[in-house]
Amino acid sequence: MSKAKTNAAMSALKLVPKKGAMGLGSGSTVAIFAKELGRLESEGKTDIAVVPSSYQAYQLANEYKIPLTNLDLNPELILTVDGADEVDRRLDLIKGGGGAFFQEKIVAAASKKLIIVVDESKLVEQLGAKFPTPVEVLPFSLGFVRRRVGAMGIDSSVREAQGKLGPVVTDNGNFILDLRFSKAIDDPGRTAAELKMVPGVVETGLFAGMTDEVHVGTDAKSYVLRK
Ligand code: 5RP
Repeated sequence: MSKAKTNAAMSALKLVPKKGAMGLGSGSTVAIFAKELGRLESEGKTDIAVVPSSYQAYQLANEYKIPLTNLDLNPELILTVDGADEVDRRLDLIKGGGGAFFQEKIVAAASKKLIIVVDESKLVEQLGAKFPTPVEVLPFSLGFVRRRVGAMGIDSSVREAQGKLGPVVTDNGNFILDLRFSKAIDDPGRTAAELKMVPGVVETGLFAGMTDEVHVGTDAKSYVLRK
């Protein structure tokens, strides 16, 4: 377990309210957070229910005995704690290394605050220079979406599963295309909107203007970046 990820997760734990509903993101840093949240629950220090953003988050909540809720019962969440793959200076994000960004974005949008937990290696000047930008695509539309994004000058590859032959199938039954742009992304909000205009693209891993705080862990400490 990375000390930097633990430091980020422990920093975000301080924001957990005494009572109410929050979103639980996905990924290895969130897994550390979930374990500690479960400990707080078992010690009676908090009385929180979570909306899980993925099957992984659902399993984490069950493993650590954190009560579950959903967006029908709790359409507005106090906050969400989630990970990210890249964070730029505006606190815009690329998410989706774990393929869960579609539901993660819904849970984040339902939250009054989006709190991101990362190690320092995720901080970048501009999004997209290193990490590909994922889009979740309806399987029926795959060939068309690839042609359309290709015409926009973007290279795409279908994310392949590990432990199964063929493509990754998301929690929502869709495929993921990883996009590589010819240069870093200048305006993540505009790029996300353009990609979502392509019929068949159900969501993008670009989270623009959504983040409130980024809790950054190093091996020695944590610090917080705010909007
Ligand atoms: C999943 C995600 C994760 O939050 C992201 O990949 C970061 O994961 P980790 O904390 O394991 O580095 O967006 O869709």
